[in-house]
Amino acid sequence: MLTILLINGPNLNTLGTREPAIYGTVTLAQIFTLLQKRGEELDASVESFQSNHEGAIIDYIQQKAERADGIIINPGAFSHYSIALRDALAAVKAPIIEVHLSNIYAREEFRHRSLMAPVCKGHIVGMGWRGYVLAFEGLVEIAREQQQSQEGNV
Ligand code: DQA
Repeated sequence: MLTILLINGPNLNTLGTREPAIYGTVTLAQIFTLLQKRGEELDASVESFQSNHEGAIIDYIQQKAERADGIIINPGAFSHYSIALRDALAAVKAPIIEVHLSNIYAREEFRHRSLMAPVCKGHIVGMGWRGYVLAFEGLVEIAREQQQSQEGNV
């Protein structure tokens, strides 16, 4: 069974009530449940972590990423300025998909750049909660392909 980490950064604990016109009304707990259900079908488990603290997210990545098969991360505002978080992600061997609920390119200019994007395998924006499901499905396929090619190389 694959293990996928779902990591959410600052203010994403308030999904559901936070600026619903931008981020929708689905909560983080509901997104986690959706992924768990999809995971049962895809034989993949999901572990969820959210923090408003940059260092706590970095600690979590350092502790967990080595044994994970993939990471879905919405770094929230850290996307736009945290070199420390980017460095932590750059050191991860497993594939990473960055998700943003909103279309960051259609918003304020300071949101147009993600420091994380260059160290991620893929990037999904503007699809609301669905972006997490799409990231999960894609990541499971990518992780399986990587496992198969590693087995083929042994
Ligand atoms: C966000 C976009 C960020 O710019 C913002 O700071 C967030 C949420 C998104 O999911 O659309 O907190 O990551």
